[in-house]
Amino acid sequence: MTVLVTVSGWDVEPWLERFRRLLPEKRVVTPADDFNRDDVEYVATWKHPAGSLKNLPRLKAVFSLGAGVDHVFADPDLPAVPVARVVDPDLTMRMSEWVLMHVLMHHRQQRMYDYQQYEKIWHDDDNQPAAKDVRVGVMGLGELGADAARKLAVVGFDVAGWARSRHRIEKVKCFAGAAEFDAFLARTDILIALMPLTEETRGVLNMELFRKLARDGRLGGPILINAGRGGSQNEADILAALEDGVLKAATLDVFAAEPLPAASPLWSDPRITITPHNAAQSDPDAVAASVARQIRALERGEELQHVVERGRGY
Ligand code: NDP
Ligand code: OXD
Repeated sequence: MTVLVTVSGWDVEPWLERFRRLLPEKRVVTPADDFNRDDVEYVATWKHPAGSLKNLPRLKAVFSLGAGVDHVFADPDLPAVPVARVVDPDLTMRMSEWVLMHVLMHHRQQRMYDYQQYEKIWHDDDNQPAAKDVRVGVMGLGELGADAARKLAVVGFDVAGWARSRHRIEKVKCFAGAAEFDAFLARTDILIALMPLTEETRGVLNMELFRKLARDGRLGGPILINAGRGGSQNEADILAALEDGVLKAATLDVFAAEPLPAASPLWSDPRITITPHNAAQSDPDAVAASVARQIRALERGEELQHVVERGRGY
């Protein structure tokens, strides 16, 4: 029986090597190989071409090789089998590292000190607030948002989080649903977006939202950090908000178009820090092992874990 590994934008070889080693009894193929579609039981995908999973009559499950599944649901011909996503401590830890680094970088004004070093300026900003006086808001309290929120609280930030449903996280003030959204934004100096891309979250990081962020914070203006999906952000509004002082700075890991086109004005705005959608890379060792564990469990008759709700889109 066959596992079809279909990835775009990533090197497929490390994935094939891991899956072949971890599942020696299976035939592990790519779309370029000669294989019998009747034998495919599992698909492991990162951005497979739409329509390419049709006509796999024995397919049992589709595994996203990332935490996000918008790339899977972008396929209108997706077969009606369960879709599972990555939930793995390796990926979660990578995201929390990235979030902590960028929050601290803004908090400690590191971009300004980089510039000062470049210009050989010795100037100590004596208005550096303590972490406890900076309000961080995490939008999306799932596997990634909740872990980042907990770790930010350990560092000492005044942390809140917002999600559709009510969460309980130690030392994090949790807001829920549309009714509590404005109150969450009004107490946020640094906004971290860690949401999936769905119909509801598309374009939500826009001027209307930025205007609701706290204006009385110690950092001199609100800061946006987005590592969820680029489709959630209105990039023209981010630039306009930076220009008008509605936002002070931003760190963006994800973009409406990836790779970010060379012509994008986001590249050259000094208030924006850009990383190339690598806040939390899917490590082939960790992620292939977790998918192989899921396949083995399924074959023992156990339930598939981390199955995505199709209606909800995440
Ligand atoms: P989860 O599914 O575990 O969590 C999603 C969170 O978002 C939940 O708290 C959910 O609320 C909340 N949410 C979803 N829709 C809404 C909405 N309309 N309004 C308010 N809250 C909403 O996902 P993960 O934490 O594992 O991952 C989050 C996203 O991060 C991924 O979908 C992916 O897009 C992105 N990602 C980016 C990476 C990168 O390298 N940049 C790497 C990995 C992931 P509730 O809890 O109430 O359901
Ligand atoms: C993911 C990602 O969804 O890398 O895991 O963006």
